[in-house]
Amino acid sequence: MKKNVFVITGSSRKNGNSAAMAEAFIRGAEEQGHAVRRFDTAFHKLAGCMACDRCWSDEKACVMNDDWQEFAAGLEAADVVVFSYPMYWSSAPAQLKAAIDRLYSYCSAKTLRPLTGKRCILLLCGECEGKEIFDQALAMHQGLNGYFSWEDAGKLLVDGVFEAGAIEKTDALEQAFTMGKGI
Ligand SMILES: Cc1cc2nc3c(=O)[nH]c(=O)nc-3n(C[C@H](O)[C@H](O)[C@H](O)COP(=O)(O)O)c2cc1C
Repeated sequence: MKKNVFVITGSSRKNGNSAAMAEAFIRGAEEQGHAVRRFDTAFHKLAGCMACDRCWSDEKACVMNDDWQEFAAGLEAADVVVFSYPMYWSSAPAQLKAAIDRLYSYCSAKTLRPLTGKRCILLLCGECEGKEIFDQALAMHQGLNGYFSWEDAGKLLVDGVFEAGAIEKTDALEQAFTMGKGI
């Protein structure tokens, strides 16, 4: 069955490692006929959550009118949500984190359109060696899946990649492609 796939990236390196993973995943998904929408957080205007508690006060999840509205619309429409980003200080790059923080609105009891029932996939990379470098990101991922009752539908964790293009020397792009095909 054709699915709506929303791919969210976090890096400002257009030819970087996480972008390459996202692109391989998208190729796989599109080959299977799925509809893919991509949102590159690094190239959008995204403020952080103000904790104003005015969520849903004008029927929009968040009252701030920046590119996050497009991000939220993409998420609402998605059957499958994919995050692809590099480790920045053991966590997500700031622009992506800003977008995620504002999902607070969808945790509110006032939510008009719950984000529940999606499948979520995580593609991560980092310079340091060892899978423990992803621990903080995995904790955030688990939190998102838990809050929204999303199904954890797969993770690809690629350590030891630093310069843009380093991921091509691993089998990660093949794996990301296969994951995209398999959703
Ligand atoms: C601001 C910044 C912070 C970083 N912090 C980490 C880190 O905490 N752990 C790590 O393993 N790599 C860290 N890195 C390295 C990147 O995660 C790594 O180079 C990754 O492959 C970049 O992916 P990209 O090409 O998709 O941008 C950092 C890089 C930058 C620019």
